[in-house]
Order: sequence, then structure tokens, then C-alpha cells
Amino acid sequence: MTTDHLPSGDPGGTPGHAHDHGSDLPADLVESTHAVSVTVNGRLRRATVPARRLLSDFLRHDLGLTGTHVGCEHGVCGCCTVLLDGAAVRACLLLAVGVDGRAVTTIEGLAAEDGTLHPVQQAFHDEHGLQCGFCTPGFVMSACDFLADNATPTRAEIREGMSGNLCRCTGYQNITAAVETAAARLAETGQDPRARCAGNDPDSGSGAVARARMGATPNEAGTTGRGPAGQGPSSTGALDDGPGDPGSAVGEGDA
Ligand code: FES
Ligand code: FES
Repeated sequence: MTTDHLPSGDPGGTPGHAHDHGSDLPADLVESTHAVSVTVNGRLRRATVPARRLLSDFLRHDLGLTGTHVGCEHGVCGCCTVLLDGAAVRACLLLAVGVDGRAVTTIEGLAAEDGTLHPVQQAFHDEHGLQCGFCTPGFVMSACDFLADNATPTRAEIREGMSGNLCRCTGYQNITAAVETAAARLAETGQDPRARCAGNDPDSGSGAVARARMGATPNEAGTTGRGPAGQGPSSTGALDDGPGDPGSAVGEGDA
């Protein structure tokens, strides 16, 4: 049981000592660390994380997957929505240790390797279902789960299905239209909405721009949800590979 730092703002920490080294702390204030193995976007990732590392922080700060945004940090806004074994969950309400051995899909896991957007991403782009885009990765992930359960939803069902995600910009009209369009396109192809897009139009010029707007690549909006003071004990979340380097995980491979 080793650690270098207490989490920032740790409720069990001593005021004024949040950044003291573990060797200076009483044993009952030292947070334990745990090895976890999680399949993220089809790749096995291994890390050693503090017991209280949130899944959202694990994805963003340890794996560099900043497409998962963080807004409220207490399960209200839906910005942090990811798929856990195919079901939409709030990453800010789960601990990294709690998903050991399971499969997580983030917004980065939807577009094809050739850049072709997932049908839900493409529909948000085509229907302009976003303005600032901060909420969009969460909406897209929620829509993927929703459409897997209801392939032919009515507008009323879409509104209810998306009601767990909050948008501060759009008024929801175009978001509803985007989910409706995505449902129609998915019905045509029979694609599982929760699966990565296979890719079919590598010559499309819209891929890179739209992908960035969807949050599928690290972007400025994705990094402003939390400041450094709220990032937790990143120094103790030692990955087998380096932070932000998804390609070098020890034990990685297609799962
Ligand atoms: S950041 Fe997780 S629900 Fe708002
Ligand atoms: S597009 Fe800005 S918060 Fe939804």
C-alpha cells in the first residue's frame, strides 16, 4: 500500500496537508492503490489507481481520453456518459476499481479507424445537434444505448430517453432531430449502435472536422471541465504505459 499524495480535496485529509507526501501521513490517511484491467474501446488497459479514482478521471487523466467530459461531477448533467458493457453509465459516479475486468466504450471508440463517423455522431453533425459541443459526447453515448433498446423511437420517446443529459446551449430541438435521423440510418444498415463504426467512406472530407466537433479527439472544451486542483492524485495513478499514450499499454491487445 503505497501512495505519494492524498487526493486533492480528500474529505479524509487534514486541512493544509493535502499535498503532503505519504511518508509524512498517518497510516489511516494513506489511500490504498489497486491494480485494474479494463478493456477500453476494444483495447485492454492496465493501471494502478488510488481506491477513490473516479472512472471519469481514470479515462481523462490516466488514459488521455478527454472526449469524456466532466460537468457537474455528481450524476446530474450526463456529460461524462460512457458505455459500460454496453449500457450507458455516469463515469463520474463510478470508481475505476469498480470496473475492473469490464469493458468501457468512450466517444473515442465510436468512429471508424478511417475517420468515418459513427451514424449517431454523423447525425448530430448533419442536424447541427450541438453548439459549444461540451455536452455532445454524453448525448451521443446516451443515444447509442437508447437506440440499442429502441430502434424506432417516437419523438416523445427520444425526448424522454435523452432527458438524463443536459445541454446549456441548444434547446434540444436539433438533438432530438439528430437522434431521430440516427435511428433511421441505423435501421437501414442494421448496425449495433453501441459498436464502433466499421467505416465506409474514407474519401469523405467531413470526417476530421466533424470528429473534432463531436469530441472524438482531445479538444479544448474537453480540458476545461476540471482544473488541476480537482484532478485527484494523478501521480499515484501509475499506468503501465504513460498517460495520454493509449498505444503503449503493457498487456494491451484487442479484447
Ligand atoms: S459530470 Fe457526470 S453526470 Fe455530470
Ligand atoms: S451544445 Fe453547449 S452544452 Fe450542449
